[in-house]
Amino acid sequence: MPPKAWHNIHGWLSLEEGRVLQELCHDKGVLEIGSYKGRSSVCIADVANFIDCVDHFKMGVNGRLNRQESEDLFSEFIENTITFSNLNLYLESFREYSEFSTPKSYDVVYYDLGKSRTNIQMFLDWLIEHTYKGVLVIHNYQVHKEITKQVDKFRKTVVPNQEGKVIWFNEKQMIRILLNQGGDS
Ligand SMILES: C[S@@+](CC[C@H](N)C(=O)[O-])C[C@H]1O[C@@H](n2cnc3c(N)ncnc32)[C@H](O)[C@@H]1O
Repeated sequence: MPPKAWHNIHGWLSLEEGRVLQELCHDKGVLEIGSYKGRSSVCIADVANFIDCVDHFKMGVNGRLNRQESEDLFSEFIENTITFSNLNLYLESFREYSEFSTPKSYDVVYYDLGKSRTNIQMFLDWLIEHTYKGVLVIHNYQVHKEITKQVDKFRKTVVPNQEGKVIWFNEKQMIRILLNQGGDS
């Protein structure tokens, strides 16, 4: 069976967001945090040099999944992405991934953990700690007010200090930030 087109995979990325993501990720090295069934992963893998995906497949539309649901979600992701040789999966939590990895090897980092709010500060701290210099895209950051607050603080304090700038912003959907492009720090 031929692979599904990204927009035929169930998920959260809108067609317009997909268009923007593909523009940003063309020929780039991309890290995706939160993949679900692979809608955004395939959208990116279609155009990127490579994409590394991090997901433990433990969260679904209505919260935490039981073991069977989690295995089914994982199988669906594999089925949807199996044909992409430029796509790698890290089957673990973001916390586990961040302990031994750096964002520095990526041109674009795409963050989409949905309503999971325990990780957002850890994620932003991880970027700061490693002085990440690429493009950062956060999906639907207004899904929880705690996430919005932390991202807004990052935008207003850290981003200007890192000579980064918000280059595209849509109230309800994605926030896209460019960090330190061309700087030496
Ligand atoms: C909103 S969905 C991702 C949607 C996907 N990007 C799309 O376009 O359809 C969030 C995903 O993040 C995963 N997730 C949530 N918390 C996580 C964590 N702490 N570490 C790794 N994955 C996590 C869930 O298993 C779920 O698959």
